[in-house]
Formats: sequence, C-alpha cells, structure tokens
Amino acid sequence: MIKRRILVTGGTGYIGTHTIVELQAKGFEVIVIDSLVNSLSGVLNQVEQISGTKPLFYEFDLCDKTALENLFTIEKNIDAIIHFAALKAVGDSVENPLLYYQNNMLSLMNVLDAMIKFKVKNIVFSSSCTVYGQPDSLPVSEETPMKKPESPYGQTKQMAEQILSDVVKSTSLDVISLRYFNPIGAHDSALIGEYPIGAPNNLVPMITQTAVGIREKLLVFGDDYNTKDGSCIRDYIHVVDIAKAHVVAIERLLEGKNKSNYEVFNLGTGFGFTVLETIKAFEKVSQQKLNYEITSRRTGDVEKVYADTQLANNELGWKAERDLENMLLTAWNWQLNLKELKLK
Ligand code: UD1
Repeated sequence: MIKRRILVTGGTGYIGTHTIVELQAKGFEVIVIDSLVNSLSGVLNQVEQISGTKPLFYEFDLCDKTALENLFTIEKNIDAIIHFAALKAVGDSVENPLLYYQNNMLSLMNVLDAMIKFKVKNIVFSSSCTVYGQPDSLPVSEETPMKKPESPYGQTKQMAEQILSDVVKSTSLDVISLRYFNPIGAHDSALIGEYPIGAPNNLVPMITQTAVGIREKLLVFGDDYNTKDGSCIRDYIHVVDIAKAHVVAIERLLEGKNKSNYEVFNLGTGFGFTVLETIKAFEKVSQQKLNYEITSRRTGDVEKVYADTQLANNELGWKAERDLENMLLTAWNWQLNLKELKLK
C-alpha cells in the first residue's frame, strides 16, 4: 500500500517531533522542513530511535519561496501539511515585532501559495489559545470572541487564522486550526522533549532546569492575581496528547470528514492549574523541593485561561488523556535524560 505523505514544517521542534512519532505510528510517511533557528537536526535521530524510521529532512527557511517550490518539485504526492514552523517567544516578539510579522506571516503565505500551485489540498495549522487574549468568561470555547492579543506573537496567530479563513473562500483548500493551550511534558521514552535553545521562557522547562541545578531558582511571576492562590491559571496539556490530535485532524481532512473547509478546535484538558499548584505537583513527582521565589507580574501575562473542550471531544473525536502529574513526570524524566543524550 502506498503510504500517505505528510509534510511537517517546523518538524524538529518540540511539538513537531512528537507529532512525527505519532504520524509514523499510524503509517504515514513524513517529510520535515526546518530552518533550525530554534532546534537541532539531531532530534530526528531520537525520533528514529523511537519509531525505527528517520523522516526525510530539508533544511531551509520557509521565507525562501524558491527553496519551498523546489521541494514541491522534488517531493511529489504530498497529501497534507502540518504547519508548525514559527517564532514563538512572547517576550522576544515584543522586542522584535517586525521579525515576528515577517517570519510568521511570510512563511505561512509561501506555504499557502505553494499548496495552491502544487495542488496540495489539506493543511493543519498550529494556532494558540493566545488568540483569545484575556477572555471575559471561562472556559473559552471556539465561539468566544477574540480579544486583542497581548503580544505581536499572539497577533501573528490571529492574523494567520484570518488569512486561512479568507483563503479557503476562494480556493479548494481545507484547513484545520488547532488552538493549543499550554503544551508541556515529553515522550515516555525521554528521547524527545522540549529543548529550549538559550534561556527558556516557559514555566515547565524553567522548573526542570532549576530542579536539575542549571538555574538557581524559579521566579513565579505574580501572586496577586484574582485566583485561589494569587498565581496565574493555565490549562496545561501533554505534548503527546497534542501530537495525537494532529493525527486525528489529518485523518479527518484526508477522509473528507470535515464539516466546513475552515475548522477550529481547542486543544486543552479543560482544567486550569495555578503556577503554585504546578510547582507543588512537580515537587511531588520529582520528590524534591524546588527553589522558587515570588516576584512581580510578567508583562503580557493573562490572569487565567482554560479550554472548553466539547467541540474537540465531540466533533473532532479527540480527548486529552494525561494528567498534570504525568505531564510533569515525563518532563522531569526528559530533563534528567538530556545529560546522556548529547544532542547536536
Ligand atoms: C503563552 C501563550 C501560549 C503560547 C506560549 C508560547 C497565553 C495564554 N499563552 O503561554 O499560547 O503558545 O506563550 O511561549 O498567552 N511563569 C512563571 N515563571 C516562569 C515562567 C512562567 O511564573 O519562569 C508563569 C507565567 O506567568 C504563566 C505560567 O507560568 O502564568 C505559564 O507561562 P508560560 O509557560 O510562559 O506560558 P504562557 O505565557 O501561558
């Protein structure tokens, strides 16, 4: 049987690598594009250790339209694209807005142009709960009106969704946008996980790096929010659950089960945890005290957000399976294993 071929942009990144493993487990052939600005190509050897297959890899920047068109000329019969590739650091996007707009928007537009030119119909887009800003009511459903995003990064996700929803009206493209809440955790094998280049921005890599002694202490950004213990609330979701949702979305498109040519689904657990609860859960699974200190709020943080997951559960037919402790345990095992891996 001919394997269905999926092009994964940003495939050497955190969610990309986990998604490749799940795609391969379902018999898909995967082709990866990545510019390696924020990841290492060596992670594909780790993918191979898990799945037995190393995906085909092309290193270039999606802003390079000629390189992208060359790829489509060489690699025929691509059935669908998962578009992860993007810059994603909220604080960095405030410092360098033009870089974020240029990179995230141009790469998406080049991908869409190439899809139209080379007749690839299906795309799953990597969106984010950041498109909701601070919502007026919780949990947030896909129908919740979007607010102005807190950062240029968030703005690029909102603009990308706008572009996609416009493009489907005049083309035959089918699009699913997946709005991730807070992906954390790592593969059970501890062979792939989140690998921040430089200082991490996100909570869980900060926690595990502090616990392992790379950082002296974790700073908790604010304990004066209107929440049960004053720290912010997020809907943390296991990266393997997120990866599986991409496979379900791809199958939905390939089997023509989508109800419209632009669909959006929230990917969360539906449960919110505070930063301090997350630290406590980490201390429990790692059986050690974490050195942390409360400091002032971080600019751009929303107070609380968690997902209404009904549409993803009932219509997409996907549900998050892992709990917070499993997320933190797998993240911890990955951090401990990193010393052995010597990634390049
Ligand atoms: C945000 C976006 C998310 C996006 C991600 C990309 C929202 C609601 N979410 O996630 O869509 O994909 O950025 O990076 O806009 N914290 C600390 N100390 C730290 C780090 C974080 O206390 O050292 C706290 C933050 O204040 C926040 C929570 O931990 O309350 C989670 O932060 P983080 O992991 O950075 O993710 P978000 O900012 O929620």
